[in-house]
Amino acid sequence: MSILFTPINLGDVQIENRFIHSATYEVMALETGEVSDKLIKRYQNLAKGEVGLIIPGYMYVHPLGRCGKYQIGIHSDDMIPGLRRLVEAVHQEGGKIAFQLNHAGRQTTKALIGQIPIGPSSKGRDPIYFVKPKEMNGDEIQEVIQAFSKAAGRAVEAGADGIQLHAAHGYLINEFISPFFNHRKDEWGDSDVNRFRLLKELISEVRNALPQGMPILVKLNTHDYTPQEGITPSLAVTYARWLSDLGINGLEISCGSTCYSYMNMCRGDVPVNELAQSIPFWIKPLAKLMMKRMVGKYNLEEPYNLEAAKVIKPVLEKIPLFVVGGFRNVTQMKETLEKQYADCISMCRPFIREPFIVKRIREGKAEVVGCVSCNRCFAAVPNNIPVQCYNKGLPAS
Ligand SMILES: Cc1cc2nc3c(=O)[nH]c(=O)nc-3n(C[C@H](O)[C@H](O)[C@H](O)COP(=O)(O)O)c2cc1C
Ligand code: SF4
Repeated sequence: MSILFTPINLGDVQIENRFIHSATYEVMALETGEVSDKLIKRYQNLAKGEVGLIIPGYMYVHPLGRCGKYQIGIHSDDMIPGLRRLVEAVHQEGGKIAFQLNHAGRQTTKALIGQIPIGPSSKGRDPIYFVKPKEMNGDEIQEVIQAFSKAAGRAVEAGADGIQLHAAHGYLINEFISPFFNHRKDEWGDSDVNRFRLLKELISEVRNALPQGMPILVKLNTHDYTPQEGITPSLAVTYARWLSDLGINGLEISCGSTCYSYMNMCRGDVPVNELAQSIPFWIKPLAKLMMKRMVGKYNLEEPYNLEAAKVIKPVLEKIPLFVVGGFRNVTQMKETLEKQYADCISMCRPFIREPFIVKRIREGKAEVVGCVSCNRCFAAVPNNIPVQCYNKGLPAS
């Protein structure tokens, strides 16, 4: 049997193969944050397609941590019935599902959350949302920790198999652990140990909210690709060691941030016209000019977080490592596991195009995935268009 189809344990939860559906903002929830039928159908299909573990799109744990109009919420008990329907749909098809808990931090807008976004520090104005965030005080930090803990409790109520803390892609946790975003001089900043404190506290609080054996996963950047130094592979190794000491049950590694380096996060083509589709007319020419400069610089030639995996894996000891980003052929996937660079293969865009790709690989019917990394599905997100494969063209927003 192929190594890709051997089971693995995350905490006390066994997943049947080594394929992880990496969190994918679907742009499909209701504006209230509740789960929609469309969302349920999406994940039912992926479970039918035999994905080992499904991680749906990031869920906001607090109203101020929301970053998408049609994002799933886990910020209130009112969300639980819909989340439960989502879990049941996946379980009915024999799948497993873990919720990605997220707080947007500075990567959101006043229009969406009703106030200036918050972050560890107020330094800088980002080039996408032009947000200069409000620096959080100690009470606000504690409120966020409690919000994650309550959200984890709701995940349990809904029957989820695990949770993942989103510490990548420039959102709040990533901001705290990154020297680029975090300029605090108190116990939440000023050193690697202090910058890591929020994530450490979150793991401890969330653990108290989960039953014994329910896995806590973390998605971590191994490179922020920010204009000045943020998380680098060597800092990521340090963090991975600390996460291992804290006994998390799985680490997924990624890179890039939505506001400063989105093309590092999703390498491939830069779909300039589609990304610019709903940008206001007065900044569209400048935005397009900036995007055109990126064309050809992010071509996807190989799984781009694999080099980071090779240095992270040894410090994790027995904790499973998932690597995401650019897996497009089965030989590469097998080799990654056989050479013990990682334990699981995480994918996002390939599943958007082919929800049944895992089953087809198992049946020996696919050696490469159909996704050509044109990134038009990625461009659907800023246009508020439900995500699907738009390789043949993005509809009007
Ligand atoms: C449409 C879209 C939505 C995404 N939403 C999320 C998300 O909610 N949370 C997250 O951690 N990453 C998100 N990502 C990043 C992916 O999980 C993944 O890290 C990235 O696409 C690279 O993997 P791939 O080459 O298999 O697509 C998203 C990517 C895309 C294209
Ligand atoms: S639109 Fe389709 S082919 Fe293009 S990146 Fe997305 S899933 Fe892949």
